[in-house]
Order: sequence, then structure tokens, then C-alpha cells
Amino acid sequence: TLLFLALPLIASAGALDDIQKRGTLRVGLEPAYMPFEMTNKKGQIIGFDVDMAKRMAKAMGVKLELVSTAWDGIIPALMTKKFDIIMSGMTVTQQRNLSINFANPYIVVGQTILIRKELSGIIKSYKDLNNPKYKVISKLGTTGEQAVKRLIPKATYISFETEQEGVIDVVNGKADAFVYDLPFCVVANAQKGEGKLEFLDKPFTYEPLAWGVRKSDPDFLNWLNNFLNQVKNDGTYDKIYNKWIKG
Ligand code: ARG
Repeated sequence: TLLFLALPLIASAGALDDIQKRGTLRVGLEPAYMPFEMTNKKGQIIGFDVDMAKRMAKAMGVKLELVSTAWDGIIPALMTKKFDIIMSGMTVTQQRNLSINFANPYIVVGQTILIRKELSGIIKSYKDLNNPKYKVISKLGTTGEQAVKRLIPKATYISFETEQEGVIDVVNGKADAFVYDLPFCVVANAQKGEGKLEFLDKPFTYEPLAWGVRKSDPDFLNWLNNFLNQVKNDGTYDKIYNKWIKG
């Protein structure tokens, strides 16, 4: 009986223990979301979340492994232990929160819109896009997609698997608007917007981004929230923020 009672305790050692035993922190991300995770010309994954993950591994005294994962499978991959944590600019939504836990938010963003230049002055907010004659793009399985379906239901919605394809269609005039998180649109507009896009940069949704972990792991959540509090107040967070977002 004693062994029987102790078994669940042994079996339920949290991610923090696994990470330390393994000597590696495994971070799941989809490197398409500038400036949080993206691939540079050398093929390295870089960005805000990556720098934060490096600090995290260092604070744990372990190595870091980045596990590149498709967005629409990232929550199942966490749940089946393909990695320890999602650090991928994920918005805390009540629906996602039914299947995973989130640490405290590390930044708050919201949906913004890149429209093709010809529509400037005509489309002033997401509300003006609520018409079947407008082709509105976002990315599969994201809060951008959810925002279009919920708040711009009459628009003709087109789903893309990558952010870049979506932006390019608006740049080329094949679609009218691209709806996505503010920081991504800032970078996309700077890279491709000149003479082609107008940026409606006032967020129209409220979206806290946070690290996702498996349920029933209070030790890991406690560590993460205290780590976040530390880096937010010792200058580390500001350094990373200024490097990728403010600059
Ligand atoms: N914040 C949005 C969401 O949670 C988009 C995040 C996309 N992240 C990524 N690494 N591709 O749906």
C-alpha cells in the first residue's frame, strides 16, 4: 500500500526536475513570428523569445535546445512532452488555457492591420473591413484568425500557414488586409510596407503573451513567474526588449 501511495508522487515529478536531470531545457517555438522568433540568413533561430530562453537555461544551469514546431501542432507537442515549454509569442486565451497553463504574461500586444496602400483613407479601422468585398488575411490557428472571424465576420477571410505569405499577398494587391499582432506588423511594415502598405497600428484586441507549460506542474510555474519577476526588475528584460522591440 505504501508503494502504491508513493507512486503518483514519483511519477508526477515536474518539468523542472526533468530539465535538471536531462541537463537541457527544451523550448518549443515556431520561428516565423518576428521579432520574437525568426530564422536569420545563417539558419539560426533568433529573437526576443530566444534571448529570454537563453537566460532561462543559464539561470537553470542547463543547456538550451530549441525545438522548431508548426504552430497548429504546438500545444499537442507540449502536451506529449516534445519539449518542456512553449516560448513562441503565444497569446493567453481562455480556450488554450483549458488545455495548458500559462506563466504570467511577459508582454501585452493586440491585433493590428496592414492594408494595401490604395485603401488608405477608405479603411480606417477593422470595422470598415466588415464587407464580403474585402479579402482579409491572417495565419492559421492564431488569435489574428480568431479576431477576424469574431470581429470582422462579413469579410472574406483567407487563412495562410505562414505570416510572410500573407503579407506578400497584400503587398502585391492580391488581398486587401493582413491582420496580426502589433510587433510582427511593425517589422513587416518596415521591411515591405514602403509605398505598398498602410499600417493601422492601434491594437483592437487585448492579448497578453505568455510561456505555456503542461498542467499540474506548480513547481515549474512558480520558478517561471519568479524568474520573470527577476528579469523584469534587474535590467535583463529591458535589454532584450530594447534590442528586439524598441530599437
Ligand atoms: N500571438 C498570436 C497567437 O497566440 C500569434 C503567435 C504566433 N507565434 C509564432 N511563433 N508563430 O495566436
